Amino acid sequence: MLKNFWYACEFSSAVTSKPKRVSLLNQDFVLYRNSNKEVVALKDQCPHRGAALSNGWVEKDCIRCPYHGWKFQTDGTCIQIPANQPGVPIPKKARIDTYPVQEKYGFVWLFWGDLAEQKRPPLPSLTEFDAPGWRVVSGELQWNAHYTRVLENVIDFSHVAFIHANSFGSGIADQPQIENYDVCLEEWSASATVTANQSKKTKGFWKHFLNKQGSRPLSVTLSFYMPNISRLEFDFPIGHFKMILFSSHLPIDDKTTVSKWIVLRNFLTAPWADGDARKRALKTMLEDKPIVESQSPQVIPDDLTAELHVPSDALSIAYRKLHKQCLEMGWGMEHHVSQLHDSNNHISEHFQILTNSLIS
Ligand code: FES
Ligand code: FE
Repeated sequence: MLKNFWYACEFSSAVTSKPKRVSLLNQDFVLYRNSNKEVVALKDQCPHRGAALSNGWVEKDCIRCPYHGWKFQTDGTCIQIPANQPGVPIPKKARIDTYPVQEKYGFVWLFWGDLAEQKRPPLPSLTEFDAPGWRVVSGELQWNAHYTRVLENVIDFSHVAFIHANSFGSGIADQPQIENYDVCLEEWSASATVTANQSKKTKGFWKHFLNKQGSRPLSVTLSFYMPNISRLEFDFPIGHFKMILFSSHLPIDDKTTVSKWIVLRNFLTAPWADGDARKRALKTMLEDKPIVESQSPQVIPDDLTAELHVPSDALSIAYRKLHKQCLEMGWGMEHHVSQLHDSNNHISEHFQILTNSLIS
């Protein structure tokens, strides 16, 4: 797990003036809205006896612990200890850690790390979210898997002809080859565009979008944004129909990930089509789930030579390299740091040349 990033940790619509627990990075946080509707984020642990503040309540922007009633301001300072006699001072240490938050694209983003505000990696861009003509639905799914495996699954097109052979991949199930593609690398992200010629008729719902004789092939732009955001953009062979799946794969702990996703579409934008859009996104992820949960080791190896790579894995190699770079900058949280030290000695020169040529 990595520090120093903004994590899209909850949907904005789920955060109200009632305290809500959010778990990520092996920790618990409590979120609530103050009277200005701004989101406040605090550690979900009272400094008195460790009770979860998320079971408490909000009073005039402050949060009250449900155990002995200590009251904390939005900056984490305790301002009242009900059991104290008048005049007894409040201990200086009676305060809770608070975290920077911002809201964008329908998510609450929480920053966890020690970088000054100007040095923090910015949020990814998703201009379609506020653009006219797009309709958005959202959902979430829990995986018994590490977030790095979940993210890699989403940005990997070569599994589509197999795992999704009976759904949206049915048109390419008999021709799984992926043409070599270029990876466009940026400071915190990378993307690649692949095209898929439908060699046979796609089944079900997808046939309306993919079976147009003589039209251009389906084009999919796959991107990731460090450390846990994926974005798939489907450019369908008809008209200017597009669909974007933007997901935050939240690292809950080393074995659990919750993907909070939104699907944006610029076709069938009436509300009656929302349920179907949501159902199809979820069905696709449920097809991936048992395979991703079976992967071993659970975390992607920091040693690039530990698993085998072929040209169609170029985007995932880019992710592994950026991930490793973050670890080398000291942004890893304990577990990863030790793994990095073990693996550093084993990287062969030959392999570095191979991966450099795939990525550059
Ligand atoms: Fe919170 Fe005692 S545990 S007030
Ligand atoms: Fe998949």
